Amino acid sequence: MPAAHLVSIADLEASQIVKILDGADRHHLLANEPIKKLTTLRGRTVINLFFENSTRTRTSFELAAKRLSAEAINISGSTSSTTKGETLVDTGKNMMAMYPDAIVVRHSYGGAAAMLAAAVACPVINAGDGQHEHPTQALLDAATIRRNKGRVEGLEIAIVGDVAHSRVARSNILCLSKLGARVRVVAPLTLIPRGIELIGGDVTRERVSIHTRLEDGLEGADVVMMLRVQHERAADEAPRFPNTRELSRTFGLSERTLRFAKPDAIVMHPGPINRGVEMMPAVADGARAVILAQVSWGVALRMAVLERCILGEAALA
Ligand code: NCD
Repeated sequence: MPAAHLVSIADLEASQIVKILDGADRHHLLANEPIKKLTTLRGRTVINLFFENSTRTRTSFELAAKRLSAEAINISGSTSSTTKGETLVDTGKNMMAMYPDAIVVRHSYGGAAAMLAAAVACPVINAGDGQHEHPTQALLDAATIRRNKGRVEGLEIAIVGDVAHSRVARSNILCLSKLGARVRVVAPLTLIPRGIELIGGDVTRERVSIHTRLEDGLEGADVVMMLRVQHERAADEAPRFPNTRELSRTFGLSERTLRFAKPDAIVMHPGPINRGVEMMPAVADGARAVILAQVSWGVALRMAVLERCILGEAALA
């Protein structure tokens, strides 16, 4: 396979996902080495184009490129010429004129990564486009689950919170159901997009269920993945719930509500956490949380994704 974009989990077969996860497994071992560098992308250039705020995703893409010996250039939206009226496509074409080997893009417009991919001649990696997808987050989540549970297939995975505005939820619903997990979407109906169980066709139709009570959604779950309320995406909408305190009381993860899940269930969150809202500090800092492990996997996983996109899938073998 030649070098390729990564815009959406929808474009990947289960076997391709597994290859990326296997690549991440190998790179994760590097974290324990005194020298964390490989040379597979020596002489290559990766441009990180971030039009939205980011802590984990941007840092890990930069670190991933550097650990493979590529050059990484970071551009943030607020300092780019889009603030002077330049379009995303023009920005991409100008970046292309400097011959990067890949462009990583985060943008508030769902569809931005696909638009850029159609306009430039190098691989484009989606680091989150509006409410659409965040494929590398779902892949790093799958890698974390696989490490902690030994598999993804057959697990009961609850995704809880503001699913309506979450690209993380969409990518995870697709990724985890492709890998054979059963995915429970848990939220008040007003925070669940109509037809969410159909986004992956038959694969998700058979594996995704909707739960409007937290206790039902958590009952016997192997994995509990919490989401932040994304107020910044809801600014122009009518309120979907009375107030955050009430949402927290009915859908927040506490030591009490976590008891509904399996005794060995792991707790995940893509970050940033709003402590005391969707997750109580005792859970976020508790023994079952793998939230910081997710961040570590983020670097290893993005190394595998950069290799796949720049060198082709064979580089992961
Ligand atoms: C998420 C994002 O930006 O989509 N965070 C992340 O990338 N780790 C989720 C969020 O902002 O709540």
